[in-house]
Amino acid sequence: MCGIVGYIGQLDAKEILLKGLEKLEYRGYDSAGIAVTTNDGIQVFKEVGRIANLRQVVDASVETTAGIGHTRWATHGVPNYSNAHPHQSASGRFTLVHNGVIENYHLLQEELLQGVEMKSDTDTEVIVQLVEHFSNEGLETEEAFRKTLSVVKGSYALGLLDAEQPEVIFVAKNKSPLLVGVGDTFNVIASDAMAMLQVTDQYVELHDKEIVLVTSDSIQIKTLDGTTVERAPYTAELDMSDIEKGTYPHYMLKEMDEQPTVIRKIISAYTEDGELTIDPSIAQALSDADRLYIIAAGTSYHAGLVGKQYFEKIAKIPVEVHISSEFGYNMPLLSEKPLFIFISQSGETADSRQVLVKIKEMGHPSLTITNVPGSTLSREADHTLLLHAGPEIAVASTKAYVAQVAVLAITAYLEAKAKGLAVDFDLKAELAVAANAIQSVIDEKDAIKNVTDTALATTRNAFFIGRGIDYCVSMEGALKLKEISYIQAEGFAGGELKHGTIALIEDGTPVFALVSQKSVSLNIRGNVKEVVARGANPIILSMEGMEEAGDALVLPAVHELLTPLVTVVPLQLISYYAALYRGCDVDQPRNLAKSVTVE
Ligand code: M6R
Repeated sequence: MCGIVGYIGQLDAKEILLKGLEKLEYRGYDSAGIAVTTNDGIQVFKEVGRIANLRQVVDASVETTAGIGHTRWATHGVPNYSNAHPHQSASGRFTLVHNGVIENYHLLQEELLQGVEMKSDTDTEVIVQLVEHFSNEGLETEEAFRKTLSVVKGSYALGLLDAEQPEVIFVAKNKSPLLVGVGDTFNVIASDAMAMLQVTDQYVELHDKEIVLVTSDSIQIKTLDGTTVERAPYTAELDMSDIEKGTYPHYMLKEMDEQPTVIRKIISAYTEDGELTIDPSIAQALSDADRLYIIAAGTSYHAGLVGKQYFEKIAKIPVEVHISSEFGYNMPLLSEKPLFIFISQSGETADSRQVLVKIKEMGHPSLTITNVPGSTLSREADHTLLLHAGPEIAVASTKAYVAQVAVLAITAYLEAKAKGLAVDFDLKAELAVAANAIQSVIDEKDAIKNVTDTALATTRNAFFIGRGIDYCVSMEGALKLKEISYIQAEGFAGGELKHGTIALIEDGTPVFALVSQKSVSLNIRGNVKEVVARGANPIILSMEGMEEAGDALVLPAVHELLTPLVTVVPLQLISYYAALYRGCDVDQPRNLAKSVTVE
């Protein structure tokens, strides 16, 4: 949450910062700001809302070749002008952008900053005021910064300007992501390489508790105790076209359309000599485990629920799936030889990371399944499996979900084979069939739009029901709908409705029912009858071979374990059209951010 950028060099810093922030808007978009060094000192421009609003207030005539920028997802203090970053110290000498949360900011304010008048409600302001406080005690800026970092507790990625040392950006990182980008006559900082791909594809990773002094021609990395660190840059393997919308009106639509290609890329990335394969050390870690613990949040958690079915049904390993924000603070009794599997599109989700930190301290092995190589959860886990979905920019996760399901299927399948279990299907071929099936569903956008416009135009709420693996997908369908259209939606196990929730059914309440599993198709149709008898408007999405007259959509048949790859697609599209119909911001829904880097 929150994105930060910085540039120091010879070019117009304002434009580079603004373009960088536009690429980071997925990290937060309730306010934004930049601070630039000029001949007359540091100038700050900030505005509530999107980067487009900030652009309106930045003085185009200001000449500057260095600065820092920030796009915010509010944690402390409402989204308004004074809480927007950058924040300045009392004298205006120091200016700071911050991504993260300072847990002891109140205490520090009371103990060290008595008499300093705070201009915002943020935790961030305490950091910049502390730098000034220690600087007023006679410390050089680097030392004042270091001393500040020694007293703050929490997570931070920081960019600091000192009006008296305009040739340096002071940088630090702990738990929040931050990279330094390397150029010929300039250097940059960014929460994500994507932001500064406009000027460089060379990046240096920073580790927690490191301080960096960035000038236009040097990058000095030091540990908090002052030891110099040498680290070579790597090339960010990102293509500009991957992060542009092209002719699409929304990233979400582009990303949904990419889903068949994502499945095909995964098949190819996990194939060697014509056979599906994963790193032998991962196969070994799975074989060594007596139980898998899948840890994830949101959509990734829903993919984890599908993964449980795969590991238990195909590879015969018991699995528990946990919401990461609950697990760390309410840990269940663990088995003797657990393997932890973290599923995360971004690889940065703080809720999941706090679990990883704890289980590592306990000495347990870990595997991260992520879309982002080099992300925190990937770096810190023992093993990584990549999703190969390409950058996912829309806040609503779509292609990452199908990628997670496909990679989980491959992992479970290969584990079954490694254990010598009988597996009666060819997963590689079935995934290829699923990719084609997804394409057929995507080609039916008009029909799906019609279903949406009729069912969801004016409704206050909606239900999604399914049984077995369809129940897992129902929860994902409901999350998608509420997240981007703001319609109250819930996913339920079909048989559970009558135990309470059916009381909510009124005349016309839309109930989306998934029918993709032969063994329970009659049961779920029975549940549909129960809600229809109480006035609901049923929208049945069935799979070929299980269809009945009156079903809203009939989806192409795929292997019964791979149905989530296909059934989720119309639900994603339904949410998309519902959001459009209601005039909502599809890619950047209210109150949310793509990468949730606070607990
Ligand atoms: O990056 P992660 O997969 O760890 O993110 C987890 C959730 O925040 C994420 O899936 C969220 O629920 C999506 N916005 C849902 O579309």
